[in-house]
Amino acid sequence: MKYSEQSNKEQDYDPTKVETFDSVYEDFAHLRSKCPVAHSNEFDGFWALAKYEDVKSVLDQPIAFTTMYKNVVPVMSLTSRRPPLHLDPPEHTPYRRALDRVLSKGRVSDMEPFIRESASRLMMVLVKKGEGDLVSEYSRRLPVEVFGRWFSLNVDQIDVLQATSQAYVDAWEAADLKGVQAAGMNLTRMAEDLVAQRKKAPLDIEKDPVSSLLETTHEGKPFPLDKIVACVRQILVVGLVAPPIVIGSVAVHLSRDTNLQQKLRTEPELIPAAVEEFLRLYTPYRGFARTSRETVSIGGKEITPDEPIALLYASANRDEDVFESPDEFQLHRPNIAKHLAFGRGPHNCAGRLLAMSELTIAVEELLKMTQGFDVCGKIKMSGMPEVGPISVPMTFISV
Ligand code: HEM
Repeated sequence: MKYSEQSNKEQDYDPTKVETFDSVYEDFAHLRSKCPVAHSNEFDGFWALAKYEDVKSVLDQPIAFTTMYKNVVPVMSLTSRRPPLHLDPPEHTPYRRALDRVLSKGRVSDMEPFIRESASRLMMVLVKKGEGDLVSEYSRRLPVEVFGRWFSLNVDQIDVLQATSQAYVDAWEAADLKGVQAAGMNLTRMAEDLVAQRKKAPLDIEKDPVSSLLETTHEGKPFPLDKIVACVRQILVVGLVAPPIVIGSVAVHLSRDTNLQQKLRTEPELIPAAVEEFLRLYTPYRGFARTSRETVSIGGKEITPDEPIALLYASANRDEDVFESPDEFQLHRPNIAKHLAFGRGPHNCAGRLLAMSELTIAVEELLKMTQGFDVCGKIKMSGMPEVGPISVPMTFISV
């Protein structure tokens, strides 16, 4: 891997600078062409890989590049390592088996009528008002309700999850370490309560994530309870953060491209393919990271084992060497299956099918219940480790 301009190790990339919905992709394009292996001094220093092949190459070496130390930039959590993301194979794999069982195609199909009812009810509120925040009032609430169903939570638990996950995201955005830790503690307490409840009264292990984790054995032994709590706590974060951002991005894109909006409204069977392309265009993660077990050279830069390497999935998915006209939306792009929005390798997203279902139904309901919609205020963008809108004020014209 040879690149034309070498970075000075001081600061090639500043993810803390103010970004807009469009400027962020211009910055990624700049990095890909000028400094594809970039160094940043922010967040205690890290490397950032902007090119597709570099990101893929790291993902294809899961033992050499571990998730065990710093799997995200910035690091804000001080708690212990949580499976499955923070473990390497083979320790990682039994946890993954327990989760895959309850995130199967069949389980997701089971949940679809509920996902639709929830999306339709939440969208109805916005459409009746005629305006509101697409993210905080729709796309952030939907995944919480879906988790409520998946985890069989009661109404009070769903309210607590809604408030806590919002507090967690707000604290991340404000870089409020104490706030992140306080919300994180609340999520841990919630996970502890759930594990204690399911231990007393297990549910169907093909349907309930906590019961599946409690019943799965590895080498004849159940998982340690603290690891099950940590795993549930991890899912409560990873499964709630990305979907709202993607749905927010899709709404902004469609408000600008009314021809596409109308096409998808009249031909809803195209929506699943459109969602795949939207995931490529508006990949919500840029901060999942690895650390190398040995000093390595990537693109001529020497990277030592104590330096996190952020995999800029959102930039890799717009790499012009892989995706033709990468900033354009192209339905049925021939190589769309190559996109890295859900990662790759052993840590690829366990919730991919559920996420696809949530996103598809969310877009279907948005289009079905409106004749049009427009951004009517300032789009607020997320900071690292995500990328994309966390607030999208919109007006809606109902059908
Ligand atoms: C738009 C929605 C989503 C996107 C784009 C997304 C993306 C990702 C990515 C990129 C990874 C890999 C992280 C890495 O490389 O270090 C990942 C892992 C993971 N995701 Fe998702 N995710 C989404 C929704 C969900 C949902 C709804 C769930 C839960 C039901 C979920 C559960 C997980 C878990 C458990 C892992 C860790 C897998 C492992 O380490 O084996 N995700 N996700």
